[in-house]
Amino acid sequence: MKITNEKKQDKEKKLYEMNLDQRLIYLKRETKLSERDIDLLRNPSSFAFLNADRMVENAIGVLSLPLGIATNFVINNKKYLVPMAIEEPSVIAAASKAAKIAKMSGGFKAECSNALMIGQVQVVSLSVSVATARRRIKAHKKEILMIANSKSTSIQAKNLQVKDVDDTSPQKMGKMLVLELLIDTKDAMGANTINTMCESIAPRIEELTGGKVILKILSNYATRRLVKCRAVFSQSDIGGKDVVENILYSYSLAYSDVYRAVTHNKGVMNGIDAAALATGQDFRSIEAAAHAYAARDGTYRSLTNWYKTRRGDLVGELELPLAVGVVGGSASVHPIAMVGLKILGVKTAKELAMILCSVGLAQNLAALRALASEGIQKGHMKLHAKNIATMAGAQGNEVDLVAKKISDENNVTRKRAKQILFSLRHKGS
Ligand code: MEV
Repeated sequence: MKITNEKKQDKEKKLYEMNLDQRLIYLKRETKLSERDIDLLRNPSSFAFLNADRMVENAIGVLSLPLGIATNFVINNKKYLVPMAIEEPSVIAAASKAAKIAKMSGGFKAECSNALMIGQVQVVSLSVSVATARRRIKAHKKEILMIANSKSTSIQAKNLQVKDVDDTSPQKMGKMLVLELLIDTKDAMGANTINTMCESIAPRIEELTGGKVILKILSNYATRRLVKCRAVFSQSDIGGKDVVENILYSYSLAYSDVYRAVTHNKGVMNGIDAAALATGQDFRSIEAAAHAYAARDGTYRSLTNWYKTRRGDLVGELELPLAVGVVGGSASVHPIAMVGLKILGVKTAKELAMILCSVGLAQNLAALRALASEGIQKGHMKLHAKNIATMAGAQGNEVDLVAKKISDENNVTRKRAKQILFSLRHKGS
């Protein structure tokens, strides 16, 4: 969706002011969603049990999560509505707010490396020296790549590398050789094909090395699939000089102290995971890679970098490995994930990675800005108050009325919600 009709849109109701019908009409107008897609969103049982039963073993049902839309994202001059699946209040509003501030200074600039994944084949108990095994594998490189590539026409192993790994485990099993296939998975995440390729070359590797192959599996540490983004948040748009200064203090703690770094990065991943879930990505692999990358210099640090320009504006950067796909996996099976991809209008894995990365940076900015000014509880408590009101028995309009009152009173407890509900229901009786 290119940026058009900016003025017209500004005059319209904001998404949070609309009811479900209005939001769906808006989505239909702003994206390429079909009537059927809209029906899928409207009908919570659209992810039928039959699908679940095909996806996992011993299925007994489905677990739903709220699905929302983050607004205001402009990435490489293109406007996006970002679907996010998450149970935590405030995350979607926070991402939208940060994206709005970034938009005022041109939005996010993102770039992505090629989609090279690593497939590992572990060889132990070599009957020849490591050097000989390495030489033989290199001499048969073409043949090994051919075997691997016979398993797929679209996904191709481009190269291989061999490394010897010193066993530092307490078990002391001995030296091992690891052959790594470098596989271009293009627009797929590629896990299944990579694993198949690794398995296909194992017998030949055993012949060549006289060793025993144990593991044949992709590495989720996708360091050849890096994505990075950057955004400027102007001092005035972000709330002034002190807010910038406080954000830099917050960042310096996340850079220097692992206890803060983990929470800081959790905030980054709030955004990335939610958008990843909404588009059918393997968020566990994304998480695992991100946290390893955060510790790439030997110390676990903040995934984002923050600094200020000479004018005093704040600049944020995020780089991380992101193995995502727009074809294959649940992105091609889960009906709602497919709708999620359609809402974004993405055609390539690279574009999806750049969006996820930008959402991560936005989420981090929003958290730091709130923490560095009013704190996060105010925003959190507003939605939490609705949950408490519901738990106290409020229904329909009562939920908003009770939630507002306990929130205004700064007494978000079930006991108080019950009292208010009681007086609401007995008013005038
Ligand atoms: C809460 O889900 C995430 C935050 O704790 C992140 C942070 O502290 O930076 C608000």
